[in-house]
Amino acid sequence: MSEYIFENKSEEREFRRLQLVEAANDSTTIALLQALGIQPGWHCLELGAGAGSILRWLGNRVGPEGLAVGIDKNTTYLQDYLSPPIHVQKIQFLEVSITQSFNLIHGRYVLIHNQSDLDILHKMFSLLKPGGVALFEEPDFTSATLTDLPTESSQGRVNRAICQMFRNAGLDPAYALSLPRKLEQVGFAIERAQSIMHLCPGNSPMGRVMGESALVLEQEYCRTGLCSPDDIQQYVKLSQDSSHWTVYHSTTSVIVRKAFI
Ligand SMILES: C[S@@+](CC[C@H](N)C(=O)[O-])C[C@H]1O[C@@H](n2cnc3c(N)ncnc32)[C@H](O)[C@@H]1O
Repeated sequence: MSEYIFENKSEEREFRRLQLVEAANDSTTIALLQALGIQPGWHCLELGAGAGSILRWLGNRVGPEGLAVGIDKNTTYLQDYLSPPIHVQKIQFLEVSITQSFNLIHGRYVLIHNQSDLDILHKMFSLLKPGGVALFEEPDFTSATLTDLPTESSQGRVNRAICQMFRNAGLDPAYALSLPRKLEQVGFAIERAQSIMHLCPGNSPMGRVMGESALVLEQEYCRTGLCSPDDIQQYVKLSQDSSHWTVYHSTTSVIVRKAFI
């Protein structure tokens, strides 16, 4: 099992970064979840609940008759979500010993951080009720594209360093590209898949997430040998410049179902 790359970083900074991840992605995730017809009384599982916005949304939708379980190995940012129908479990995905099954499972930006992604997907398949639905959303960092800068620029070097950092950790920076195949391999039936290219200006939530991540992970990026602290500074500056547009990465969202047997 690989260590989550943001483990052992400042709690305050990580909370802010996770909230920016939510600001950048929740509208897409919520539109997809809404289309799944989630009902009061449903049992839902949020994998890697992070700062908790989707867990809270699921709790509101299932209401007092339902259940929204949030799992994360770091529940520091979930302390406000401790009353029914929300339940929080501080545990590694593969150690979860829940016996009940769920109508809906959601996970965003979690599989890319785990070498044991297939085991996690098998576990999620076993936790889904027959006929149940799941939404998995994962990034592809190799799709970062420069709009008006040469490849040999700070931003180009930092983009390459991000990908190499994942490879050095035994992880796949293009995780999204293998997600549909892996979901089918585990037994899920794919209902819908969509990809969003995050072409964003600096100072947008996505630009700010990527700038914050670069500051927090500066050592890890520089350790790849592909970028320098000066490159990080320049990258962060552009991530705050609202006149600078770039493609930071893309995200693929896949809706899958477990067949009735
Ligand atoms: C990039 S954050 C995404 C948070 C949230 N899903 C979102 O998109 O806003 C990944 C989260 O998954 C958790 N995580 C990653 N691997 C995990 C594992 N194997 N077991 C439990 N939690 C894990 C991390 O602690 C972190 O909170």
